[in-house]
Amino acid sequence: MPNQNSSYEAHYQKLLSEGRTQWSTDKSADALYVAATKFIHPRERVLLLGCGVGMLAERLVPLELECVGVDISSTALSKARERLAAYPNYQFFEASVLDLPDSLGLFDLIMDEYCTHCIPNERPALWQSLQRRLKPNGRVIIKAMVGENLRILAVNPRMTHDAASGTVFRDGIPERHVPTFAVLQAELEQNGFEVLSAEHIIRSEQSDPSRPEEDEGLFEVRLA
Ligand SMILES: C[S@@+](CC[C@H](N)C(=O)[O-])C[C@H]1O[C@@H](n2cnc3c(N)ncnc32)[C@H](O)[C@@H]1O
Repeated sequence: MPNQNSSYEAHYQKLLSEGRTQWSTDKSADALYVAATKFIHPRERVLLLGCGVGMLAERLVPLELECVGVDISSTALSKARERLAAYPNYQFFEASVLDLPDSLGLFDLIMDEYCTHCIPNERPALWQSLQRRLKPNGRVIIKAMVGENLRILAVNPRMTHDAASGTVFRDGIPERHVPTFAVLQAELEQNGFEVLSAEHIIRSEQSDPSRPEEDEGLFEVRLA
């Protein structure tokens, strides 16, 4: 079975070897920041899921958070540590969102940076892992791809999508979980969350057709 962790690590190593420094575009990181600041309050203790090279973390600095970023790529994390070196209230750890260690402590808010849709299997374990890291009344913000007729399929023949299960495959190997908006909301409710707000972001315009953007779900949830 191919190791998903090593594919993310390999992706970051390739990016850096090509002289690029980040996974997403600045536009995408700015959009993530706008979404995050709808929910994050100054000085909260915040966990960033799939923090990558720290693009969102950097934008959140003015909020004076106590911020912990986790990712499975050590290469990405070393860039995040460099980027936020001046801020001791920002810490970065190598960990899977499926198995977040107790030593991270508890959080007011957990922010998904397009990470939960990278978990095609073990979805109940994912939600349980997040729930164990929440303070009482803590919230989770999910920002994830949703939809049925994914645009990526038109430009990347290696990708396929089983709309019934929501699994996106690359070369036949499960890589993403992209259900419909309604199915993702139902999944959150069935896995012990109360949905506080739900927004379906429809992407009608595609600025870069070679790097298409999918529709997204943006949810604020807490323990039911
Ligand atoms: C789609 S990328 C987004 C990266 C970054 N948040 C951004 O917007 O540029 C998903 C990130 O999640 C990380 N990731 C994937 N699976 C993970 C897991 N099981 N645990 C922790 N991080 C994971 C990847 O290494 C990658 O940095």
